[in-house]
Parts: sequence; C-alpha cells; structure tokens
Amino acid sequence: MKNYTTLFKILVLLTVIISCESSTGKKSKIAIDKKVDSLLRLMTLEEKIGQMNQYTGFFDPTGPSPKAGSDATKYKHIEQGLVGSMLNVKSAEAVLEIQKIAVEKTRLGIPLIFALDVIHGQKTLAPVPLAESASWDLKAIEQSARNAAIESSAQGINWTFAPMVDISRDARWGRVMEGAGEDTYLGSLIATARVKGFQGDDLSAHNTIAACAKHFVAYGFAESGREYNTVDVGTSTLHNFILPPFKAAADAGVKTFMNSFNDLNGIPATANTYLQRELLKKEWNFDGFVVSDWGTIAELVAHTYAKDLEEATKMAVLAGNDMDMQSFAYVKHLANLVKDGQVDEVLVDEAAGRILKVKFELGLFNDPYKYCDLEREKEVLGNKKLHADALDIAKKSIVLLKNEGQLLPLKKEGLDILVVGELANDKTSPLGNWRVASKDGTAISVLEGLNTYTNNRISYQPGPKVFEGKPNSRDEIKINTSDRTGIKKAVNAAKNKDVVLMVLGEHGLQSGEGRSRTNLDLPGLQQELLEAVYKVNKNIVLVLMNGRPLAINWADEHLPAIVEAWQLGTQSGNAIAEVLYGDYNPSGKLTMSFPKNVGQVPIYYNHKTTGRPVLKKGKGVYWSHYSDVDNEPLYEFGFGLSYTSFSYEDIKLSTNYLSKDSAIQVSCTLKNTGNYTGKEVVQMYIQDLVGSTTRPVRELKGFEMVTLKPGESKEVSFTIDKETIQYYTVNNKWEAEPGDFKVYIGGSSNASLSASFNLAE
Ligand code: NOJ
Repeated sequence: MKNYTTLFKILVLLTVIISCESSTGKKSKIAIDKKVDSLLRLMTLEEKIGQMNQYTGFFDPTGPSPKAGSDATKYKHIEQGLVGSMLNVKSAEAVLEIQKIAVEKTRLGIPLIFALDVIHGQKTLAPVPLAESASWDLKAIEQSARNAAIESSAQGINWTFAPMVDISRDARWGRVMEGAGEDTYLGSLIATARVKGFQGDDLSAHNTIAACAKHFVAYGFAESGREYNTVDVGTSTLHNFILPPFKAAADAGVKTFMNSFNDLNGIPATANTYLQRELLKKEWNFDGFVVSDWGTIAELVAHTYAKDLEEATKMAVLAGNDMDMQSFAYVKHLANLVKDGQVDEVLVDEAAGRILKVKFELGLFNDPYKYCDLEREKEVLGNKKLHADALDIAKKSIVLLKNEGQLLPLKKEGLDILVVGELANDKTSPLGNWRVASKDGTAISVLEGLNTYTNNRISYQPGPKVFEGKPNSRDEIKINTSDRTGIKKAVNAAKNKDVVLMVLGEHGLQSGEGRSRTNLDLPGLQQELLEAVYKVNKNIVLVLMNGRPLAINWADEHLPAIVEAWQLGTQSGNAIAEVLYGDYNPSGKLTMSFPKNVGQVPIYYNHKTTGRPVLKKGKGVYWSHYSDVDNEPLYEFGFGLSYTSFSYEDIKLSTNYLSKDSAIQVSCTLKNTGNYTGKEVVQMYIQDLVGSTTRPVRELKGFEMVTLKPGESKEVSFTIDKETIQYYTVNNKWEAEPGDFKVYIGGSSNASLSASFNLAE
C-alpha cells in the first residue's frame, strides 16, 4: 500500500509539474485549468473538502508540537489530507515542518498554502496603511507591499490577508488604521498598487505572494463605528463608494477575497450569494477563491441567520464562500451535506478547484518548499534596503497640520529642546497594530531619532503614565486617568526651553481589530499635560502618534505647530526627526477628515448637500446643522501643509463641452511661493450638478505630485472624459449623465479654483 501511494503521488506530481513552468498568459491559464481538473478527478470528496479547510497554526518555530484537544485533531487532519491551508505559522522552519507533513504524509501530497496578516511588513515595519495612504505616493505604496512580500515569503508565507480595501468614514472604528481612508478613487488606486506590490509580475516567483482583498463587503460602515456591528447601506452608497476598491483589486488580478464579519442589509456577508456568486465571480469574472473571515461561517448562527453549524455550512457553500477559516464547519458537515443531496458536489469541485488553481499559480506543485530557504530567511529579514524603503515611506506619510510663525523646521543647533510624553520613548507603539511576526521594542523611538541630531540640547520628561501595564493584542488598553505624577516635573522642565516637543496620542494597539472608541480625544491625562505645559511655554510642537483621526480642537486653537506622525513603523523616530529638522519637507495629505469632535462622525468630504444645505441657511434653525459646532471638519480630506507655500492660479479648460467620446483637458498653474523646495499633491475634484440620484458636493477624480523649487511654477493638467464622471445611477448601471459639472483644482478637498463644463446628450 505504501509503495502504491508513493508511486501514485509521483504520477500526480509529474502531471502537475509539466505545465507549471514558465509559460505565461492564456496558454498557461488553460494548462492550469486542465491540471486542476485532472487533479480533482483523483481526489475523494473528503480530500476536496480538505482543500477548503483552513486552520490556525499551533507549531513551535522549532518543530511540530501539537498540543492536546483541537490541536491534535488539526495535526491528524493535515496528515489525512483534510487541510488546504494554515494561517499564523511564522517562520521558514515552522512552515517547512508542516509542509512536509502535507507533501510527504498525505495520500496525494498536495501542498498547503500558508497565510498570514502581512499588513504593513513582516519584521521590518512600514507605516500603518492609513498613514501610508497619506503619502498619496502610489509607487512608494506598491514598493512597501513588495517589500512586505519579499520579507514574509522568506519566512515561508505565500499568502497575505491584505490589502484591506474597506472605505470608512468613521474614526471610531479601530480598523481605519488598516485601510486607505475615506475616498473611493484614491482607495481604488491604492488597492491596485498594493495588490501589484504583493503579487508582483510573476506569482510563481519565490518572493511574491498571493494578496487578499478584504473585507467583502461594507465592514467599514459598521453602525456607530462599533466593531463587528450591523451594516445597513443603500444600493447607491454600496456601488458608488464601497465596491469600487474591491473591483479595482479584482481587475488588478488579486488572487483571493475575504468576506466580512458584518451582515449587510440583513444578510451576513459570508452567506451572501449576490455578493460572492453574482457580483464577484460572475459579473466581475473573479477566478480566484473566497476565504471566510475568522469563524464567520459559525457566526451565521449568532447572527440569527442559520439555526446550527450544519445549516451555516450549507449557506456558506451555496453563497460561494470557498474556504472556511477556523469555523471547523466544512470539515465537519460538508461531506454529509453532499451525500444527503443538499449540496451539489459540483460546488465542492468549483471551490476546491479555485483553491488548487492558486496553488498551481504560486508554483507550489513545482516546489512546495521554495518559501522555506533558511539561508534566504536570514539574508532577507531586516536587510538594509528594507529599512531604507521603510524610512522613505515613513517620511512621506507625515502630515504637517499646523505651522504658525514657521516654528518648524527646527534649527539643527543652538536650541534647548524638551521632549515630553511617554510615547516619545516608546519603541513599540510606533509599530502600530497588525504586526503579527514582528518583535516589540524594534521601532526607533522619537527620542532616539532626535538624538541623532546631537547639536541641540535635548532633555526628556515622560509626564504622567498614559497606558497601564503591558497590553497585548487581546487585552483592552488600560488608561491611567488618576495618577498625575509626572505632570509637575514636565511643567517645571518646560519653563525657559526654546521649544517643547510633545509626543502624544494613542497606544500602538489602541486601533486595529476590536479597538473601537467612542471618544477621539487624546487618551488619559495627555490633554491635561498639554494644557499644563502650555501655561509655562507656548512654543510647543505637538507630534501626534495615532492610528486614526483624533479630535484635537484645543491643540489647533492654541498651539503653533502640529505634526501628524501616525504609527510609522520601524523607522518611526528617524522619519520624525528628519521632518522636524527640515531634512524632509513634509508632503503628506490627510486621507480621512479630522472631526472637531466625535459628534460630527461619520464625517467625510464627499457628502451630499441635503435639501437644506449650509449655503441656503437662512435665519433660525431649519437647515442641516448642529447648534454647538459647525459642519466643517477640523482638517479636511486632502489637507496637509509644507514648509513652503503654493499658489494655484489660472484654471483653464480646453473646451467647456464634453461629448461621450471626447475628452477635456483641465489645467492650472502651480507656483512655489515660499522659501523651500517642496512637493505638493495637486488634487482635482468634480461636482455633478444634477443627477438621477442625489450627488456628492464633489469627488476626487485625479491628482498629481509635483516638486517645485522656490519661485518655480508648473502647469498641471488632467484629462476628463466620460469615465471620469460616470457613476452608478438610478438605472443600476455605471453611466455618465448629460448635464453641467464643476471642476475644482487645489491642495485639498476645499479647493476653490473652479471651472464649469457640460456633457452633451
Ligand atoms: C480577522 C480579521 O478580520 C481578518 O482581517 C484577518 O485577516 C483574520 N482575522 C486572520 O487573522
């Protein structure tokens, strides 16, 4: 029997190997489809279902050590060919151990695919994704994903659960740190860049990995920003704002999709046939596979949508959910459902086939161990190039929010500077959340970064404790609200200093999954500390460290300088020092609106006018407003300052009339009117004045990054055609509707330079 099995495996592998080679394009696609078919024919029902089963890891990095209970069962299941993928196995050696079991001990020797949440790097961390999006630099963002693929693939990983392409307008939701902000157009371009970065040009290379567009869909619209909450959005919002980044990822060739925890208009995403089968697989032609989110099949029961796990299994398979992450549902119930005739085996073939196809495309059948080269792992992890690129994108992600009296950049010598705040000396928080394979304490802290500029006198006061204990990714973050020790010392030390750098914000684990907040203020006693120091020294530069927009009204009203430094990853402190000292002139622009207070949330620039807009307000209260604060955000989408200044003038249209098959050029002159060379993100917005559904006040439709020397100017132009102005109309189609439009160009979503054009019938 043993000999027969080995011979059999060799035959299978031989068939499989022949084509995986170098052929590309249509031919190799057909070849892979054929191989998948022949492999499926050799598989038992249980083995096919096994491909659809994913377990989380349980091995020590030094080798297999299954523990009691479900771990032992999982181990057995791998040996029996009942597992198609593992997640959370985190080193080349550990992956190798498990892959060997799949390849050498199972009947058919089908390799596993190894997944991990490689969200903003593996060991060497780039800024959290929201911060990266503030760079608006698609090339740098693609490179960052490329580097994450290079580093994680050297650790045995061949599939990342990224990019998260959820649009969100609600800073209370902790996962905004993982996305690209509130805008659909920019979010779609970033989705494409990240998919390209992870997957590269050749998925079968040893240093590219399959990407995963998640969470399908509308998870970013969880009611009141509360994690895992219900979502209820209309067709127009779903198609115009939420779906396009997913479509962009699909068009970029993303290999996998992950569905989401939420229900959408009453149907949990995992059991949603329209989304997964109709839209994604049929209309969009997506030929990869869909993985559930963690336990979401089982959660159909808690959602009150399925009566038990068996029914949940059936619903998920029928709806097009191909792989089960950690619900233990498919492996338990699917075979019986097929045998009872409740699920057609064709659906199992389709799902397993989609998964096998990605394994072929990754080249796993050619060499299942190609991601497990221990030498390569040593060479690649944390190498110089990865650090240089992490620093590059970290600088580009910083947004200068205020700089009155040109307090910044700081002189490199002769200053007496006090640095205040626990976060300034923190080597872990700047790494942000979602860093499953990295080590605590590996970020360059702000203090360390600053101290490389030794010609200034730098002293430090932590102020009061902000975060209690050493929180981990499962615990709630405990905040000190009563022990004021440290405030007085910081205040005394601040007197007579030339500048006080206050590094305040959120703990690195305060945003991310399961981290919703109802309050967007500076946590704990930080606001009190800030105000106390301000009483003795007004020369404060506030350096914010956070994973979401915060409400910092007081700071904006009182302080001369504010720098949004997010959680910038491994090179955090160096990037911040370079910006503060002017070695890098800040160029980042916000990709989420910052509210004046949490009551304004959700707040976003591309909102509707309403029937009673601000512009029409008369006397009295009967217009769309609040009585205690205006409708405007504190800092709008697209906003960010530079050490230099820019002027926008002379907007021109090549013609005011657009036809369905022509294009208009819109241009303006950008001038650097300040004293530093600087980079500006020139943004173009369009407003559709009348539509078959109500239309947003404006929408981003183009941008360009321009670097200018002092006094230099440049004409910047954009093309507008039918595609630019089309939207998902009342006819449930993407259409450009005839009528009048306004175009705006400027340095933020408040751009005022405008011109008008018309699209003829
Ligand atoms: C749950 C998260 O929602 C998802 O984004 C992640 O990829 C999985 N857990 C696996 O860690």
